[in-house]
Amino acid sequence: MYRLVDEPPSLDEYLDLRRSSGLSPKTPEQGAPALTGSWYFCHVRTGGDAAADPERADAGRAVAMGRIISDGGWYFHIADIATRPEFQRQGLGRTVMNRLLDEIRAKAPADPYVTLIADPPGRRLYESLGFTDVAPSLGMRIRLPD
Ligand SMILES: CC(C)(COP(=O)(O)OP(=O)(O)OC[C@H]1O[C@@H](n2cnc3c(N)ncnc32)[C@H](O)[C@@H]1OP(=O)(O)O)[C@@H](O)C(=O)NCCC(=O)NCCS
Repeated sequence: MYRLVDEPPSLDEYLDLRRSSGLSPKTPEQGAPALTGSWYFCHVRTGGDAAADPERADAGRAVAMGRIISDGGWYFHIADIATRPEFQRQGLGRTVMNRLLDEIRAKAPADPYVTLIADPPGRRLYESLGFTDVAPSLGMRIRLPD
């Protein structure tokens, strides 16, 4: 019924997955480099083919995703973890997270530094996978230009 694909979704699907899951919307100009410039990107699709099965609104559709931004040496930052609301709580987010972590385990040199910014909806999932708070460090951001 679901297929884990070791590639990014299309640009339209990426932008739609972010928007529909409640993450901040991005423009095509922002999204396109995320698809080509990530160290690793995967997504989950429903079975079927939308072109061959136009009656089924959910046929062959990207419904969950996640990616890793990295230098490939030691720093691995997980981003864009999202599942469409109507497909949540079926284990798809966990499947994507496990795939990302497996990729790091398989390809990274020893002792990788793996981070993410945990929005509230994902915290329990991340904690259950072994992620911990970075205290006494603190995640920070700056809005540019300023
Ligand atoms: C965070 C997010 C990606 C999780 O996606 P998901 O596909 O629902 O994740 P999972 O189904 O693997 O796990 C989520 C919960 O469903 C539960 N679950 C998994 N399979 C289940 C099933 N068959 N039946 C009922 N519950 C189930 C899990 O135990 C987990 O419960 P918990 O939150 O109480 O720990 C999703 O909530 C989301 O997209 N949120 C909005 C975007 C966002 O904030 N992303 C995080 C950015 S850091």
